Amino acid sequence: MFTSFPLKSVTIPNRIVMPAMCQYSATEDGYVTNWHRVHYGARAVGGVGLIILEATAVEKRGRLSNHDLGIWDDGHIQGLRELVEIGKEHGTVMGIQIGHGGRKSWGDELVAPSSIAVPNMGTPHALTVTEIKDIVESWRQAARRVREAGFDVLQIHGAHGYLIHEFLSPLSNERGDEYGGSLENRMRFLLEIVEAVKKEWPEDKPLSVRLSAVDYLEGGLTIEDTVQISKVLKSRGVDLMDISSGGLLSARIELGPGYQVSFAEAVKKEAGLPTIAVGLITQAELAQEIIHNGRADFVALGRELLRNPYWVLEAKCEESVWPWQYHRAMPKR
Ligand SMILES: Cc1cc2nc3c(=O)[nH]c(=O)nc-3n(C[C@H](O)[C@H](O)[C@H](O)COP(=O)(O)O)c2cc1C
Repeated sequence: MFTSFPLKSVTIPNRIVMPAMCQYSATEDGYVTNWHRVHYGARAVGGVGLIILEATAVEKRGRLSNHDLGIWDDGHIQGLRELVEIGKEHGTVMGIQIGHGGRKSWGDELVAPSSIAVPNMGTPHALTVTEIKDIVESWRQAARRVREAGFDVLQIHGAHGYLIHEFLSPLSNERGDEYGGSLENRMRFLLEIVEAVKKEWPEDKPLSVRLSAVDYLEGGLTIEDTVQISKVLKSRGVDLMDISSGGLLSARIELGPGYQVSFAEAVKKEAGLPTIAVGLITQAELAQEIIHNGRADFVALGRELLRNPYWVLEAKCEESVWPWQYHRAMPKR
């Protein structure tokens, strides 16, 4: 758990990741605030190996709330760059998740592959092919801004029932054109985004995709689909898969410690890509077991790192890990 992991030119100092978690604390125009500086700064001081900034919107209409971070304008770059500098100063690798909420966005300009609403939300407009190409271009421009802000890892949000996932799942995609039908067609939108992002994203820096491995619903995405998508992503130059699940529509899920690890394990073993496992991993013993047994290459701790920014420090009482300012507080073991 405390060994480093090289991904292209970037070395992640340990296997603990803070996954993307919306903070709903940006200005209404999507700018960074002091909340982000303190929140991300604390986890960097706390020794997290890789911080992935919260879902940051590639288009204003694709935000999940009216206080999401944005990356649809060059004006957003400076604030994000400051967060990168804060993280790097403390030895943490800084990544960012960029996304689009699709039919689950905030506001009334909902777009999706097909005009199928989720319960209690408005009916989305089914995107035309020209509109799809425009959104892909927004992703490309966002990737350029991620590069200019100095991030070392870029993650495309393809999970949790948002726009990319809506294309991937047959339950939300009923298109009859080249973006719907077969799995090959349903993944076309994601592959076009990967291709557009790679035009801007440096070849020597890792590119990650987050997917919901399964929909937990009859007729929805299965782990076999996700392994297949991951194999194609690997061939298109994606370096790191972050494997979550669900979020398309409400479903019955058996929750328990590490409940999604087997999905990450399947992707790692069958698609041969480095993976992040996530979901109710709170104990150091479980995190260590997952890494030690090669079930995933990284473990992401979401809510646990919200509760305790110093989780990594508590798991490893060593002067080399602790910031010198805190050495007098180190428990003697
Ligand atoms: C407050 C909060 C905000 C979240 N926002 C995002 C997000 O922006 N993008 C994303 O992919 N997942 C998001 N998630 C899901 C987490 O990244 C993570 O997958 C989930 O919390 C399960 O991990 P955990 O059990 O360790 O918390 C969010 C979760 C929480 C609790």
